Amino acid sequence: MSELKLASEKRLRIFTGRAFPELAEQVASELGIPLTPTSAYDFANGEIFVRFEESVRGSDAFVIQSHASPVNKHIMEQLIMVDALKRASAKRITVVAPFYGYARQDKKHRGREPITARLMADLFKTAGADRLMVVDLHTSQIQGFFDGPVDHLFALPLLANYVGSKVDRSRLTIVSPDSGRVRVAERWSDLLGGCPIAFIHKTRDPRIPNESVTGRVVGDVQGQTCVVIDDMIDTAGTITKAVDALFNEGAKEVIVAATHAVLSGPAIERLRDSKVSEVVITDTLPIPEESHFDRLTILPIAPLLARAIKEVFEDGSVTSLFDGLS
Ligand code: R5P
Repeated sequence: MSELKLASEKRLRIFTGRAFPELAEQVASELGIPLTPTSAYDFANGEIFVRFEESVRGSDAFVIQSHASPVNKHIMEQLIMVDALKRASAKRITVVAPFYGYARQDKKHRGREPITARLMADLFKTAGADRLMVVDLHTSQIQGFFDGPVDHLFALPLLANYVGSKVDRSRLTIVSPDSGRVRVAERWSDLLGGCPIAFIHKTRDPRIPNESVTGRVVGDVQGQTCVVIDDMIDTAGTITKAVDALFNEGAKEVIVAATHAVLSGPAIERLRDSKVSEVVITDTLPIPEESHFDRLTILPIAPLLARAIKEVFEDGSVTSLFDGLS
């Protein structure tokens, strides 16, 4: 028995690319193992070189890389790491992408458009990935694009427990910033004792990227503490327009909770200038010091990733980490 245990401990290996090594270090530390030493650098023309500094033969390899900006470079680096692991005889390769890039294009809105979420899945499969581990995909059905197991983790309990501990639940409304996220709002409501939900009727012109048009609030938010939930804050256009719409409809206070802090371009300025009382996010992506502000709360995602990796490695149950969530 102890020999078996020793053998399996030896096989678990955690690797990191250069997008957010601090997150991988936290995960490895939670698991009580070191990161496998890896060299990575760019050639003069931007091509990437990767080499593992120890044998990885027979390992159960977890390659952690969040698709932070510059997104294309970090995705390519993760693909190259997977390729190197496959060629070095790793036994099983799991791509851990806490923020999975290109997920927003999960269908064709108009003719002659790509489906990049599918392309990403194909690229990882071709490189040699056996499974994917991701946090809060833009839409759940993206799991079906990858031909293999996908461990879809949810930050919802982490975010909802934090928010629930701070607000008066009797005056709470969960707000989806668009009609597509109403199901997630219902899950928040279930976790927080069945509070009412509302949503913003948002329309977007698919020809203009990064630009949302906020419509009306559907639901009664008068005098309520509203929690606007979203998978990501990119330019913060969606979320700050939702905040404005809620105050216009008489909301008393608005909190924003989102999993992925992409925070591109004007995001921080928009959030700072808005009347939102708190922005709660997780650190699936690196958040530079200069983006921090007093109403920003960052919840650590590493413990969840570590628990999920442990379940996968030990052939346990990732679903058990989210009991009660459907
Ligand atoms: C949209 O469908 C997404 O769930 C987010 O609401 C959106 O991508 C956020 O982008 P931005 O912050 O640029 O409005």
